[in-house]
Amino acid sequence: MDKRPIGFFDSGLGGLTCVSPLLKLLPNERVIYFGDTARTPYGSKSPETIRAFAAEISDFLLSQDVKMLVIACNTVSAVCLEDLRARYPQIPVLGIIGPAAEKVARMPGRSGIIGTKVTILSRAYEKAIAACEPKKEIVSTACPALVPLIEEGIIENEIMDLTLRYYLDHFLQYHRPSSLVLGCTHYPLIRANLQRLYPDLEIVDPAEILAARIAALLEERGLLADQPAGENTFYASDLSENFVNMIRRISEMSQFQLGFKSFDKEK
Ligand code: DGL
Repeated sequence: MDKRPIGFFDSGLGGLTCVSPLLKLLPNERVIYFGDTARTPYGSKSPETIRAFAAEISDFLLSQDVKMLVIACNTVSAVCLEDLRARYPQIPVLGIIGPAAEKVARMPGRSGIIGTKVTILSRAYEKAIAACEPKKEIVSTACPALVPLIEEGIIENEIMDLTLRYYLDHFLQYHRPSSLVLGCTHYPLIRANLQRLYPDLEIVDPAEILAARIAALLEERGLLADQPAGENTFYASDLSENFVNMIRRISEMSQFQLGFKSFDKEK
């Protein structure tokens, strides 16, 4: 039994899509989330900058006595999972790419990956999938305009549909994958658009796979909270209206209680 919170972070609000399936699975757990809304997006920044931002946020979460650190961001996972593991040997550090890659490696047919420029250029998914199944066929493409649109709340909108078609129509027609991995934690928020535009594609959400992996790891290490561990806390480096709206939306969807603090006020 361990009532300490689990620390999650992302460049913005996208990582909240990883919190929701976890709390559905393990409602007793307590989450401390940090969204770097002041500096999002990370997906077009240099690896050095991403590494520095990730270390800063992780140090903050460690100062909150988290029992596990979850990188709810593909871009950060692609760039510096191993750095963060080495920095905090005292707790488990989980990235979002590994668990999803293991599942995708076992899926039949060719799989497509979409993500930020940094994630796609890193080939982190390809490497992790090849480590499990070297013959698995993977095609990938970066969709850099999606995160800013999602952060702006431009989702149920023809601008989003046109942007998706701009990136994906040709890519999907040419490569014909049977499944598409949402290689950015913002993308589950546009899952309905993708499903409507490309109904034959099987959509893979790494956030759901990550939740199952977190649960297994906590259980294995005797770190589960077997009674309600307290209120969740959501921090942002910039308290934008969209961030608060998104917390409300995800909170209503998954019916978990939340608290909200601005990071700056805590310092
Ligand atoms: N949500 C993030 C990811 O999973 C990063 C988006 C960004 O900041 O560009 O990659």
